Amino acid sequence: MVHMPGYYEFACPVKILSGNQALSNLPYEMGLLGATKALLVTDKGDVAAGLVGRVKAAFAGSAASIAAVFDETPVDSSDKVVARVARLYRDAGCDCLVAVGGGSCLDTAKGANVVLTEGTEDLLAFQGAERTTKPTKPFVAIPTTAGTGSEVTSAAVITNVDKGIKMAITSYRIYPHVAILDPKMTLSVPPRLTAATGMDAMTHAVEAFYCLQKNPVSDAFAVAAIRLVLDNLVRSVEDGANEQARLGMANAALLAGISFSNSMVGLVHSLAHAAGGVAHVPHGVANAIFLPWGVEYNIGKCADVIAELGPVMGVGAASASAEERARAVVGALRGLTGRLYEICGLPLALKDTGVKPEQLEAIARAAINDGTLAMNPAEVSYEDALAVLRKAF
Ligand SMILES: [Fe+2]
Repeated sequence: MVHMPGYYEFACPVKILSGNQALSNLPYEMGLLGATKALLVTDKGDVAAGLVGRVKAAFAGSAASIAAVFDETPVDSSDKVVARVARLYRDAGCDCLVAVGGGSCLDTAKGANVVLTEGTEDLLAFQGAERTTKPTKPFVAIPTTAGTGSEVTSAAVITNVDKGIKMAITSYRIYPHVAILDPKMTLSVPPRLTAATGMDAMTHAVEAFYCLQKNPVSDAFAVAAIRLVLDNLVRSVEDGANEQARLGMANAALLAGISFSNSMVGLVHSLAHAAGGVAHVPHGVANAIFLPWGVEYNIGKCADVIAELGPVMGVGAASASAEERARAVVGALRGLTGRLYEICGLPLALKDTGVKPEQLEAIARAAINDGTLAMNPAEVSYEDALAVLRKAF
């Protein structure tokens, strides 16, 4: 029986443009939003890779233009950076934000949009859910990695420098108005980063499929995302110039983003956030390592739900028990990460990421205090988290 919640909500108000010519429609989409002067929010890497040049070229012959470029977005964005972006927007007389980059660039633009519309640089007041009060400025997101799904989510994570905390701001007002997926924008991502970000998308989809806010709509997006990852991730890593595979992964990340922003994520992400905070393990790498272990941990609670992914992943005999079919799903995930290890050296164990054994307890403590754990199907104690970490080590 497919799980049917007694009540659920689902939202994704983002217009999606996907394909080889998608980028060329940027000025037209700005026009539909009533905007003509864009502030590009990006980083040095995307400028060096020629991606900002591609965006500029899309404006040739159009009435719209790029009024200013902010290319100093750091890997982890902060309220100070957001304030600089908002000031540049005002000084250059912009009427639209265009974020070109990975999750940090997109989240920076989301934060700047809140600052611009609310008229205050104090983002702390908007931490939490639905604290914004006004409609935001026109905002177009152009992801240059296929993983976070930030182009279709209502959340931004921004560091508060003075307080030394990461602020999570969630609001239906901070969704981008338009997401543009163009394979040209992800062709230059190197193999291991392609694998890591792709496994972040896979983790969003798999966790979304069994987490506590799951519903029939988020399920549909999760299953479609998993199919696209299985079809395209290895091909994208093996042959980065393959535009079809890149477009497939861009769509997988987007679908997984829509799914998890409605269903939420669980234990795997809590461990990944903790490993990132304590030992600076990159988010996608941590997810790739923890995903099989996290799914396995949840088999005791929801084997039947996990088993539903068997046919999607082409594993598990129909005659087998739910637990056996769920274990086959774990096996398929191990098969995928094992293949990625062979092709590009994506780490399979925590010890291969520089984490020391004496750091496991701190990671376990941080994991059980991570907000994502609230939506994990099975209860997780400190000892449970530590046991999973030891296995993954
Ligand atoms: Fe993630």
